[in-house]
Amino acid sequence: MPNIQLTINGKPIDAEVEPQTTLLDFLRESMDLTGAKRGCDVGDCGACTVLLDGKPVNACLVLVIRLQGRHVDTVESLMQNNGLHPLQKAFVENGALQCGYCGAGMLMSAKALLEETPKPNETQVRTALAGNLCRCSGYTKIVEAVHCVGRDMALDSEENR
Ligand code: FES
Ligand code: FES
Repeated sequence: MPNIQLTINGKPIDAEVEPQTTLLDFLRESMDLTGAKRGCDVGDCGACTVLLDGKPVNACLVLVIRLQGRHVDTVESLMQNNGLHPLQKAFVENGALQCGYCGAGMLMSAKALLEETPKPNETQVRTALAGNLCRCSGYTKIVEAVHCVGRDMALDSEENR
């Protein structure tokens, strides 16, 4: 089997992989990182969204063999000093999750958005989350949660000037 070196959640990984193994299968079955969820397995639902070099991708569509030297971040990377990331807290506080199946993907898409656009408007939030389907929430609370974090981050950076 071919060998691959990549970084997952800041940790260097050296593994043998089958050429047809998807990143989603690799994360869930070989790395025991089960945060990214399998919804459709064909790139339609966004439940499997992770960051590849900081950009959201559908892990079900990416072959891990193509990721030599790349950096992958999953929802498990959001935990900070054993506490929740501000986005996770905002999702909880705003009641943004119901069954929670879409949550990991939503959080990773939102993280990528806030890194590029720290104070997004509603349209920017909705556009960034357009590839993440939620069958329960109606999206309003999710959008509000992302908006709150963006606003708080903007306030923090203004206070620290
Ligand atoms: S499981 Fe990957 S997009 Fe649906
Ligand atoms: S909270 Fe159930 S799919 Fe989004």
